[in-house]
Amino acid sequence: MWQAVNLHWKCMIPTLTWTPEGVSFIDQTRLPLEESYVLATTYEEVAEVIVTMVVRGAPAIGVSAAYGVALGAKSTSAKSTQEFAPEFEKICARLAGTRPTAVNLFWAIDRMKGLFANLRDSEATLAQVQDRLLAEAHAMYEEDIAACKTMGAFGGALLPDEGGVLTHCNAGALATCGYGTALGVIRSAVEQGKHIHVYADETRPFLQGARLTAWELMADGIPTTVICDNMAASLMKAGKIKAVVVGADRIAANGDAANKIGTYNVAILAKEHGIPFYVAAPWSTIDLATKTGDAIPIEERPQVEVTHHGGKQLTPNGVGICNPAFDVTPSKYITAIITERGVLRAPYTEALRQMELVAG
Ligand code: MRU
Repeated sequence: MWQAVNLHWKCMIPTLTWTPEGVSFIDQTRLPLEESYVLATTYEEVAEVIVTMVVRGAPAIGVSAAYGVALGAKSTSAKSTQEFAPEFEKICARLAGTRPTAVNLFWAIDRMKGLFANLRDSEATLAQVQDRLLAEAHAMYEEDIAACKTMGAFGGALLPDEGGVLTHCNAGALATCGYGTALGVIRSAVEQGKHIHVYADETRPFLQGARLTAWELMADGIPTTVICDNMAASLMKAGKIKAVVVGADRIAANGDAANKIGTYNVAILAKEHGIPFYVAAPWSTIDLATKTGDAIPIEERPQVEVTHHGGKQLTPNGVGICNPAFDVTPSKYITAIITERGVLRAPYTEALRQMELVAG
């Protein structure tokens, strides 16, 4: 019987932290070789940090954008709430224009917009607006960690007592405000005494699995093996993978889930091999206004992410390149969606609608 272990939670690494000078981000483009931090002192810099993926992962970019709004409000030269209103819209538009797929970004900005509208209607002073916007960003930060812990407990119970669990991309502490979604499920399973060995897809082209998932799981002492993306099928056939758990950037009303490019491949492979395929995501990733995965906007990233690695060119000059950052896994491949509100199973349209009604 495996003993429950008290992990040294490196997962509480400061993915993003509000400071009096601005928002501090661990630089995810430099991990794992260098642990360095970027300080964003303006909302434009927060937007830049999101675009360049210094910070990435759906929940983390949502909360980062909320802090970006708070930062923009703090440094305005406007003298009143009314005077600040057009600038507030500009700040929100800039942050919303950073990355199109993760709905958490728009969820967070909409929440800030709703608060601002209320404060404006109640004739709050600019100082009150500044304080309340920052307090709202702090609340989102805390709620995100709490959601990860709760979904972790729900999902941890679904994982096998022992064996290999495959994950794709990084849906860990680095993709959230702490603990992680898919990696939160794995962390929780390990805390419950399960003997999990993680197989981390390297996740071309940005290598979130090889660099980030491996780094944060090693810090926790969770056994981890990095595999190239094209190795999953053969490991599944060999019986080494007992379950798959991934995060999501947006889950449509019918349960179709957008996540890092390559997730769809893994889902098909899991189905073929009779392996459960779990998606773990906070409710802020659920987008009931988008009916199916076909309507989810997929970000196209710069070609250089594919043509080069570590500053070195990999491909011949002028060759055609495509770099969609995400794909959509149809809900028929998903065994369960794990959220902080509970575990949902097909039919997802009904399950999601029902859970929204109960909790909403
Ligand atoms: O392009 P990225 O690195 O932001 O993509 C991240 C993912 O695809 C994650 O799996 C997803 O955002 C869930 S993070 C908890």
